[in-house]
Amino acid sequence: MKDLVWDKVLSVGIDEIDEDHHRLVDLFNMLNQSVSEGAAPDYLTALLEELINCTVWHFSHEERLMLQHRYAGYAEHKSEHQDLIKSVRQLQKKIIESGGFDADADLEFLESWLTMHILSNDMKLGSYLAEVI
Ligand SMILES: [Fe+2]
Repeated sequence: MKDLVWDKVLSVGIDEIDEDHHRLVDLFNMLNQSVSEGAAPDYLTALLEELINCTVWHFSHEERLMLQHRYAGYAEHKSEHQDLIKSVRQLQKKIIESGGFDADADLEFLESWLTMHILSNDMKLGSYLAEVI
């Protein structure tokens, strides 16, 4: 599959959030390239773990910003973060149990897992923060 392109379509307009998202996109692309190059399963699972850990850290960063700036959508947004972590942990479990990535399905899942949240709830948060910061 094609790499994700970092451009202004994915920008939420707040630099510190965009920087985190850019890092997540870079990690996704590393994983995508490594899968297509046939990298070793333990390398791929390490890369996926790094992407998940980076996402967990990033979600706590966003949650702090929401609390700091009294964002009314905090509970709903946080709950979506929790669902996203749960779903990617399920994918990780499936990959470990089955012994490898399903190149198309797993990467497509991760691509929409990463971008749908940025394009919906993170955009709303970015617009709010741009007004109050
Ligand atoms: Fe978010």
